[in-house]
Amino acid sequence: MIQADRVVAGCRQLLTCPGPLPKRRAAMRDVGLVENAWIAGRNGRIVFVGDEEAFQREVESLPGAVVLDARGLVGLPGFVDSHTHLPFAGSREDEFALRLQGATYQELAARGMGIRSTVRQTRAIAKADLAALCRARLDSMLLHGTTTAEGKSGYGLNLPDEIKQLEALAEAAAGHPIDVVPTFMGAHEVPDEYRERKEDYLDLLIHEVMPAVRAKGLARFFDVFCEDGVFTLEETARLVEAAARAGFGIKIHADEFVPLGGSELAARVGAASAEHLIAIRESGIAALAGSDTVATLLPNVPFFLMQEKRAPARRLIDAGAAVAIASDFNPGSSMTENMLFVLQLGVFLLRMTIEEAIVAATANGACAVRLQNEVGSLEVGKKMDVILCDIPNYYFLAYHPGVNPVRHVVKSGRIAVRDGRLAY
Ligand code: NIG
Ligand code: FE
Repeated sequence: MIQADRVVAGCRQLLTCPGPLPKRRAAMRDVGLVENAWIAGRNGRIVFVGDEEAFQREVESLPGAVVLDARGLVGLPGFVDSHTHLPFAGSREDEFALRLQGATYQELAARGMGIRSTVRQTRAIAKADLAALCRARLDSMLLHGTTTAEGKSGYGLNLPDEIKQLEALAEAAAGHPIDVVPTFMGAHEVPDEYRERKEDYLDLLIHEVMPAVRAKGLARFFDVFCEDGVFTLEETARLVEAAARAGFGIKIHADEFVPLGGSELAARVGAASAEHLIAIRESGIAALAGSDTVATLLPNVPFFLMQEKRAPARRLIDAGAAVAIASDFNPGSSMTENMLFVLQLGVFLLRMTIEEAIVAATANGACAVRLQNEVGSLEVGKKMDVILCDIPNYYFLAYHPGVNPVRHVVKSGRIAVRDGRLAY
């Protein structure tokens, strides 16, 4: 008999999102539906998933096992939000109001607002206060069903403030149920003091900040904003080659506004992901489809910026790219930490099917942070990260937008949210 110390009992529907991972093409529409499903765990990992009959036959609950009654609920893997700028200070509602009067994101950035405004606010905050902000945001993410979240620096843009951001993120993550994956993004923008000497900023990143971040073990990935007016394709290539040599996994903000070829570069260097992709070219789609680099789409960004152009989700999926969706949570272009909302935008704006959007927010999101052996699907051996929603069937995840149906969240076998409230 399989021995279990945790049981989720009797989900009306359970979406397991099974491998092989990443999921591509038609496999993205296979959510691995099990009806009347039971999940058993031991020491935080899944040891059994199946229907009631198989559970009774195969599983023995250990004395003191915690059983969560999930009858009438729909279960799925906790969301993996693989792209966020979580450790930021302040907010930019002033800029948002100007955009509503007709200014564009790029115009405001050129006037010193945009990312550089958040840089000023983030440099000014104390580390402990930034950690408290991160902690509150992680709680909100958890209440909306996220159990794994990536978080990027990139609002410090100098050695002490990039380190401060990553340390604040680590402090917030310590003891929090959400698994946090830190990314160093010193190449998010060129800071004001280096605008006339960008080369020197690249040297600072490569020779001082990257080694310091690695030495302190503060980030698993390196990310860069490859965009017109930020970092060119050549500069991006130089940065990611140095980052790979320093031991970082690679992510690239690519082809968001102007197609510079960041997607092709990401595939060529074996990046974990290329992100945004609103302006991606055919050659970029082909390059991603032929690689293990995840195409991460951030549908709240064009929604939030009120821009018409969308990432070509359908063409990417049909070409065979591994597509993920993520929040891009940040104060300028995507002020939401709610992955369910993002999933809904994947359906309504990008025309993904409900199944594709679910897979993109879970199993393929896990691939984008290279944690596909740990999280993102409900399979034996993986972490027992399950969200339980109070809905009649899984179509309601998209069909009934704008409300939060997450009733319980189980993270590594522990109940982290119970009856819609934090319980860790
Ligand atoms: O991913 N595109 C670049 N960076 C962020 C925006 C950050 C900001 O506006 O503060 C993004 O959308
Ligand atoms: Fe981003």
